[in-house]
Amino acid sequence: MNGQRILMTGVTSGLGKVAALSLASEGAQLVALCRTLEKGEQLRTEYAEKFPNGKGTIDLFECDLSSFDSVREACQQISSKYSHLDQLILNAGVWHFERHKTTDGIEEILQVNLLSPALMIQLLLPCLEESQEAKIIITSSGLHQGTIHFEDLEFAKSFSGMKAYRQSKLGVILMCRLLHTELKEKGIGIYCQHPGVVQTQLGRHAGWLSRAIFKLIGKSPEKGAQTLLYLARKPKTELLSGEYYADRKVTKTTKESNDMQLAKKLMDVVDEYIKE
Ligand SMILES: NC(=O)c1ccc[n+]([C@@H]2O[C@H](COP(=O)([O-])OP(=O)(O)OC[C@H]3O[C@@H](n4cnc5c(N)ncnc54)[C@H](OP(=O)(O)O)[C@@H]3O)[C@@H](O)[C@H]2O)c1
Repeated sequence: MNGQRILMTGVTSGLGKVAALSLASEGAQLVALCRTLEKGEQLRTEYAEKFPNGKGTIDLFECDLSSFDSVREACQQISSKYSHLDQLILNAGVWHFERHKTTDGIEEILQVNLLSPALMIQLLLPCLEESQEAKIIITSSGLHQGTIHFEDLEFAKSFSGMKAYRQSKLGVILMCRLLHTELKEKGIGIYCQHPGVVQTQLGRHAGWLSRAIFKLIGKSPEKGAQTLLYLARKPKTELLSGEYYADRKVTKTTKESNDMQLAKKLMDVVDEYIKE
């Protein structure tokens, strides 16, 4: 990774941890955003133990994606510390089965999976524009069927963890496709990816049956990290910006996730949420 400076979220567990450690070991200067610095220190310890000859480094920043203040504070610190960022890997995600409200009073899946990544892209764009390599990679999911529920975006009237999660991941694909046009002019590539079904902590709040199914059919985090790593390692010239990748290939997605009017309408709403 040749000293590339890569900012990444979702590095303390699951497929993100595997990818983060691999990228650092290959020479990346990893800028790791963690919910607590304690978790970040655990990541650093694991890196030293697993990769004693690792070529890269890990810098830590505290950032809770369920708080816009925390995201703004972390992005402010990062922008003052670094002149440029080569990659933004937005991998963190949650899936709840009961409705949770964040400190900003927003349904948590929506804020963590879609709104905070959108805010981070907006705040860190100037740092990316300073790089020749600039790429944004966002973790979506094969579970992105359905549509955007504009009439009740936060499922306040009737909550469904499945619908909220699917909507957030559809939102990620729509954001990726829409931003592609804007970022092309700035020379920045943007990609989203589906890791497959992976045995991680994502289903930690699910019932025992769903967790058992996840365990039964899920692949290892090492295998689940491969598409993300592929996108991080490949030069932009070999990738298609605005596209959704699964199994290291551009993959077809639903009709709704290609609807650019839907994307525009969604991003107008997202902008309202994240404006100061
Ligand atoms: N596992 C699958 O089958 C699957 C399939 C499709 C897509 N995905 C997506 O893959 C991505 C990685 O998930 P995973 O499966 O590896 O699950 P995971 O083991 O639960 O890891 C999730 C990561 O996101 C971080 N995170 C969650 N909420 C956060 C918050 N409020 N602020 C900061 N960080 C937060 C977690 O931090 P903590 O360690 O502090 O909890 C952790 O590092 C997610 O976007 C998920 O939706 C997973």
